[in-house]
Amino acid sequence: MARTPSSTYETGRHAPPPRVIAVTSGKGGVGKTNIVTNLAYSLARKGKKVLVLDADLNLANVDVLLGLTPKFNLHHVLIGEKRLRDILIKAPGGFQILPASSGIMELADLSEEQKLFFLSEISALGNIIDIMLIDTAAGINNNVIYFTLAAQEKVVVLTPEPTSLTDAYAMIKVLSSLHDVKRFRILVNSARTEKEALAVFRQLTLVSDRFLGSLSLDYLGFIPYDNKLPQAVRSQRLVVDMSPRSTASGKFFDLAEQLIQEEPEPHTDGNIKFFWKGLFNL
Ligand SMILES: Nc1ncnc2c1ncn2[C@@H]1O[C@H](COP(=O)(O)OP(=O)(O)OP(=O)(O)O)[C@@H](O)[C@H]1O
Ligand SMILES: [Mg+2]
Repeated sequence: MARTPSSTYETGRHAPPPRVIAVTSGKGGVGKTNIVTNLAYSLARKGKKVLVLDADLNLANVDVLLGLTPKFNLHHVLIGEKRLRDILIKAPGGFQILPASSGIMELADLSEEQKLFFLSEISALGNIIDIMLIDTAAGINNNVIYFTLAAQEKVVVLTPEPTSLTDAYAMIKVLSSLHDVKRFRILVNSARTEKEALAVFRQLTLVSDRFLGSLSLDYLGFIPYDNKLPQAVRSQRLVVDMSPRSTASGKFFDLAEQLIQEEPEPHTDGNIKFFWKGLFNL
């Protein structure tokens, strides 16, 4: 007897379920939004269907960075005024942005019925997405933890500044000791050289090994300090778009390729629908 398809992925296509990657840091201003957006652009240029979830309520968020002014956001979906697919905005390079804005706060307080409706909306997106990247806010607050926990892969960004190391450590400590997260991917931003990036990574692993026990911290790579990046920010453009030959852009393209080459994780609890189910505690 034919098996009844149980998910959109089974009914819709044969590709693996979308990967969900959260980018977080503890400290603000270390480059999360630039990493998420430049990576999204690079992945999209390589043929991937990418959705960026802007889970940051602060001002320096994805739409500001790109000079976009979304008319509608998650709030309009949650109050039933818009369908989810209608609020997505197309960014340069072809990736999509899900503008969350104040809707992010409302997600925690939905009725069971609203959550189920929202999940069905999200499931429909599964067919048009390969990778979802989540840009989180600065600080270690409930909102940041909430989104990071629900993602399959957790990327912690830090820079060579000592305060950034402390904050990345604090974030890892909270996620591992309070929420049992055991695996983190570490991305060093604004390093002058790979040697410097590796030294920063080693420092982090040293404190983590010493005080947090057996965690897996994987070095994902580094993005160099590059003047072209703030220049692009000032023009409300992405560095990969404005200065594709710059050193930072080269690294973003390499990182995108590296992510594409990786085998998806064997379990499926990171796919889009499961991501939201996790958020909603269903
Ligand atoms: N690789 C880099 N080279 C040079 N400057 C950089 C680099 N990465 C980030 N910056 C600078 O840091 C600024 C902050 O970056 P971004 O907004 O991406 O950080 P963030 O972590 O998202 O901040 P917040 O925590 O406030 O959301 C950028 O506007 C840019 O000027
Ligand atoms: Mg940001």
